[in-house]
Amino acid sequence: MSLLEVKNLNVIYKVERKEIRAVRNVTLNVESQDSIGIVGESGSGKSTLAMAILQLLPYNIAEATGEIIFDGIDLLKTSQDELRNIRWKDISVVFQKSMNSLSPVHKIGFQMGDIYKVHKPNSTNEEIKGRILELFKLVNLPERIYDSYPHELSGGMMQRVSIALSLIFYPRLLILDEATTALDVVTQGQILDEIMKLEEKLHLTRIMITHDVSVVASTCKKVAVMYAGYLLELGYVSDVLTRPKHPYTQGLLSSFPSLEGERKDLRGIPGSLPDLSIAHEGCIFADRCKKANNICFVKTPEMVELTKGWKVACHLMGGEDIE
Ligand SMILES: Nc1ncnc2c1ncn2[C@@H]1O[C@H](COP(=O)(O)OP(=O)(O)OP(=O)(O)O)[C@@H](O)[C@H]1O
Ligand SMILES: [Mg+2]
Repeated sequence: MSLLEVKNLNVIYKVERKEIRAVRNVTLNVESQDSIGIVGESGSGKSTLAMAILQLLPYNIAEATGEIIFDGIDLLKTSQDELRNIRWKDISVVFQKSMNSLSPVHKIGFQMGDIYKVHKPNSTNEEIKGRILELFKLVNLPERIYDSYPHELSGGMMQRVSIALSLIFYPRLLILDEATTALDVVTQGQILDEIMKLEEKLHLTRIMITHDVSVVASTCKKVAVMYAGYLLELGYVSDVLTRPKHPYTQGLLSSFPSLEGERKDLRGIPGSLPDLSIAHEGCIFADRCKKANNICFVKTPEMVELTKGWKVACHLMGGEDIE
């Protein structure tokens, strides 16, 4: 059984008499100990998908339908009380700005201890400190941080604190949403290395949202490509990132400079994301797709499995490069 099964998930934001369809009909299975990178342009619905899984969508304006089954439980049908138990303990998240949620006036160790006590109210001070120092070791932070204030730490250290916090109850699923994007490449590389080591040790499952395809290539087993709320391609990194099938994936990859290979033009994808509040027919990418033909403007393509675990939503299933 998969650890997480997202089935036909739709998320609509209702704002100013508009309906923004931020996630559309997404179906995604995450197996235990998978590491899945979610990539796509800004505004393609990546964070909305993560927030839906965590049930942290703004409930007054967002409407989520479909199923999000975590370990046999449908999170969309779970009460807030039960969800509070699942968050942190079973599913935890690190955002780009997670570090901002710490209070500036209390020491790091004290704040982490408070969070620990929420789920373990009877724990002793000794136990709490022991656990926090153990987490520091896991993410390679010195013990003295326990008595530091947030402003005394560098961005990289703060992000390590956020990651340590996300691991405080050894969750089964860790969601990183641009968690290391703001850091320099060296620090980002170190943190991602630590996270991958932790995965081995703690049998973690990871969903990682990032703009950076090269980070997915070096740290994930699988990749999911999103565009305007739709999942367009999904599969093993070794397949999708070397022989992308969807014209959008092909365009996205050709937008990235290759470090090892020869220098290519950064062709990118002409055009921009469609307005998500306007109804459309056919494939959502058709307007920007150089290969689109008649059917693409009429019928929405379904996700079709090419080989085991490799799925593409494209009428043409073209394998060649966009020229
Ligand atoms: N709280 C909200 N209210 C209204 N619309 C929202 C809200 N949050 C997101 N959206 C809209 O939903 C769409 C998807 O946004 P989302 O933040 O999920 O994209 P993303 O892929 O995470 O982008 P980025 O890479 O920039 O973080 C966008 O059109 C965005 O404007
Ligand atoms: Mg986002």
